[in-house]
Amino acid sequence: MSEKMNEIRQAFTEKLKKAVNTQALEEIRIEYLGKKGSVTGLMKTMKELSGEEKKTFGQQVNVLKNEITKAISEKLGQIKQKELEAEINSVPDFDLSAPPVLDRGSYHPITLVQRECEQVFKSMGFAIEEYSEIVTDYECFEALNIPKHHPARDMQDTYYLTNGQLLKSHTSAAQNAIYKKYRKALIEDGKPIKAIFPGRCFRNEATDACHENTFFQMEGVMVDKNISISNLIFFMKTMLSEVFQKDIKVRLRPGFFPFVEPGFELDISCLICGGEGCPSCKHSGWLELCPCGMIHPEVLKAGGIDPEEYTGFAFGLGLTRLAMMKYGIKDIRDLNSGNLKVLSQFTAE
Ligand code: DAH
Repeated sequence: MSEKMNEIRQAFTEKLKKAVNTQALEEIRIEYLGKKGSVTGLMKTMKELSGEEKKTFGQQVNVLKNEITKAISEKLGQIKQKELEAEINSVPDFDLSAPPVLDRGSYHPITLVQRECEQVFKSMGFAIEEYSEIVTDYECFEALNIPKHHPARDMQDTYYLTNGQLLKSHTSAAQNAIYKKYRKALIEDGKPIKAIFPGRCFRNEATDACHENTFFQMEGVMVDKNISISNLIFFMKTMLSEVFQKDIKVRLRPGFFPFVEPGFELDISCLICGGEGCPSCKHSGWLELCPCGMIHPEVLKAGGIDPEEYTGFAFGLGLTRLAMMKYGIKDIRDLNSGNLKVLSQFTAE
């Protein structure tokens, strides 16, 4: 019997030496340790032996079985290591110098106008801030002088989370956080607060060519001593002239927003007819573009800024609207459609 065992041991050692991959190794394992394997076969012959012989034989078979199991697992480790090294050292089967097969992507029209606006405001010393899309009721309404049950909330129905938070209905929702972030520098170092914060906004409304439940705005604020409406007009006019690459005339009309006092609607001279009057501007010569105003004292207070000492302006530029005007996009729904035929037409100038 022990002769038989030695034969098996020798044959196994020979075969193991020759195994070069995991598959060959698995075949060997089955050949020796599998259900019909040689070692398993030895076990089966045990029943022919008497008590004492059975015991010694059983022990020897177990030793052999353990040897084989250990040898296979060691060899498996070596093979895997070799395979890994080979993979690391292999030359990639793609040509890095080949020209790209796919067309290059293009920027979304809103990204394009957003970047342009950011560039202009940055050059005028404004910080660009990012703010989350999920906000609290306080940030979106209360801190903006819109208490619970105020009718101004009706215009801004949005999507609510089960924990009471909501998807911001306007970028004004970031104002409070911005004031709190910069108030120390304003009060202690006399640095004016100048920040813009573009972002995605949401409203629970039926969609059509002019309305979307998801759109983009860019809010801007400036707070310092002696800030007046003329500062507001100057910054808006400069920014719009840069974006449209021509001198833009602006006018202010009264508008009501609880977080500004006085509040305005800022119109620009019609881009199509230059102010003469045409169907695009409903023959008025003006296009409504950007609500704005002087920040309400209560809003400054909520941000920890003394309204007796500081004043400021705020505006909420509709980036989606601006992109539509700039690129002549007629249906707002194209912007969120993911339709590349439409969206890939726009390139940075
Ligand atoms: N948050 C307003 C809206 O989405 C727009 C707005 C109006 C923003 C006046 C302002 C502002 O900063 O001063 O309807």
